[in-house]
Amino acid sequence: MPRVIFIEHDGVRREVDAPVGLSILEIAHQNDIELEGACEGSLACATCHVIVDDEWWSKLGPASEEEEDMLDLAFGLEKTSRLGCQIIMSEELDGIVIHLPKQS
Ligand code: FES
Repeated sequence: MPRVIFIEHDGVRREVDAPVGLSILEIAHQNDIELEGACEGSLACATCHVIVDDEWWSKLGPASEEEEDMLDLAFGLEKTSRLGCQIIMSEELDGIVIHLPKQS
């Protein structure tokens, strides 16, 4: 099974199983990783904001316009920011590194 590596706010690294077809948000929740996701993936909040590792950024498809609009509201935005609910796990993303942004 593919894996995702989360780097938590305090630098702690958590490597977890990442079933294909689940979003980064769902995978975080399954593993008690602190990522809010207030709207449960309906693109109506920015609380699932994550920062994708530079190396993996180009492997993701472009964000939709709706995602970009929501991201503008996220705290601590970086150039490789994405919404965790919009990144869907695939075999190609095995080993992806996701940083959790600092809390506001
Ligand atoms: Fe609200 Fe991702 S959970 S936009």
